[in-house]
Amino acid sequence: MISRRAMLTAGASALAFPAAAQDSRSLKAIAAAKNFTFGTAAASYELKDADFTPILAREAAQLVPEYEMKRRALETRPGVYDFADLDTLFAYAARNRMTMRGHTLCWYYANPAWLAPMLAAKRDEKLLTDHIRTVLRRYRMDSVDVVNEALAPPGTATRADGFRPSIWLDAFGPGYIDMAFHAARAADPRVKLVYNDWGFEQGSADNDRFRSVTLRLLDGMLKRKTPIDALGIQGHLSAFGNKVDQRKLRAFLQEIRDRGLIILITELDVDDTGGSYDIAARDRAVADEARRFLDVALDNPATQAVLTWNLSDRYVDAPDEWKLKLLAWRLRKTPYDAQMRKKPLWDAMAQAFAGRRLHY
Ligand code: XIL
Repeated sequence: MISRRAMLTAGASALAFPAAAQDSRSLKAIAAAKNFTFGTAAASYELKDADFTPILAREAAQLVPEYEMKRRALETRPGVYDFADLDTLFAYAARNRMTMRGHTLCWYYANPAWLAPMLAAKRDEKLLTDHIRTVLRRYRMDSVDVVNEALAPPGTATRADGFRPSIWLDAFGPGYIDMAFHAARAADPRVKLVYNDWGFEQGSADNDRFRSVTLRLLDGMLKRKTPIDALGIQGHLSAFGNKVDQRKLRAFLQEIRDRGLIILITELDVDDTGGSYDIAARDRAVADEARRFLDVALDNPATQAVLTWNLSDRYVDAPDEWKLKLLAWRLRKTPYDAQMRKKPLWDAMAQAFAGRRLHY
């Protein structure tokens, strides 16, 4: 039998290997060795790119649709669904032995144009719950964003409870959130039910307020026994703007864990707007900021997944056309560049993943 001491020594020597040489494993393998899932957002048209799909299949253990599950993409006319693009993503995931994450069942944004007037006129709960049931009955998923971004972003709240104005808030008041989670649980008893949002990571007073209204929302749900399994932390970071406050983030994640909730990092990317035109310097700053975030996020045993919001810069939303044309400027937010080469962000992620302390 291997002694505890020998195990610790083996662990220490593994860590002692310098990070200089790039880890030859995939991100999903490094993550799996540390008990969490690595995945990424992808859009169905990306699956036609033969430069990209081998990388996607190799690196990611989980996929989340970038657009295809948004209600505007699915329910083009009331009760009439077009599942074709979403089916393509699920079929790809199944072929490549990946799990799926759902995004998103209820959001203020990306709704079909017919929904707002109908909801305002009828205030019918079924306009929320029928959709949730339809999607969840069709697909098997590991987790799903039941409600996305119900809170006003840091610094923009106009209500004391922090809720973001939306068609759902107008129709039902804040109770729409519980309504959505109950409908989700009734439709699928197994999928992890997630509340997903952004603004948790930085240190400003506005972020402090955002963290506290989030805890109030979650506490209310837990007290009312609303079925919720996880908080989704989008993780849209900024290399040259508002930086991650590691101390505050650590304390906040601890609060989430103390409530018995799972933590999922759902949309990690690092905006490099505001950096110089020196690509190496931008890439370094992007990598450093992600590392500062991931070291804290992965140190919490409740963190069960990290997903990037796209795996390659080729598929990051195009910046302003004039920047692209005149300056060949392209956002460099993801682990692979537009030529499908690994970037310093890939290394930073691999190192943060490999360095996770396992809690037994
Ligand atoms: C974004 C897509 O990436 C964009 O292409 C689209 O124009 C808008 O939606 N938070 C979310 C995601 O929850 O759904 C958003 O995705 C990015 C911010």
